[in-house]
Amino acid sequence: MKILVINGANLNMLGKRNKEIYGDKTLAEIESLMREQGEALNVEVVTFQSNSEGALIDFVQQQSDSADGIIINPGALTHYGLSLRDALADTKLPIIEVHLSNIYSREKWRAKSVIAPIAKGQVSGLGWRGYIAALRTLIAELKGETWT
Ligand code: DQA
Repeated sequence: MKILVINGANLNMLGKRNKEIYGDKTLAEIESLMREQGEALNVEVVTFQSNSEGALIDFVQQQSDSADGIIINPGALTHYGLSLRDALADTKLPIIEVHLSNIYSREKWRAKSVIAPIAKGQVSGLGWRGYIAALRTLIAELKGETWT
């Protein structure tokens, strides 16, 4: 089983950027935790980050045929990235949208996600743990496991 973990615009700056909002873990640390979780659950986790919508779309198009699901934090592209949304929808894969911060408790424009309607679900406001929750949930669903 293979899960794509994709991060969009400005998330390469985690650990330096607005720590009080996004926490102090770097993206490399979060990605490494995700790969560790994957290994423990016998799932391949492939990570990718870009600040460019086109590069994110290229990655989704190249990787989706061999993947089973996608976890994505699109950064600000969440709010207007319609071509990214189309590329994600075209994959027909289960998608979980993740946000470190609670996008509903901040500026009004952040409360709208163009990705949410094509996602299976969304995690917002749980910091880096939201990525782990999304990964574990997606894997459990794909494996048809129940919570014990
Ligand atoms: C974010 C929320 C977005 O509104 C913002 O543009 C980001 C990060 C989050 O993880 O909380 O870059 O996606």
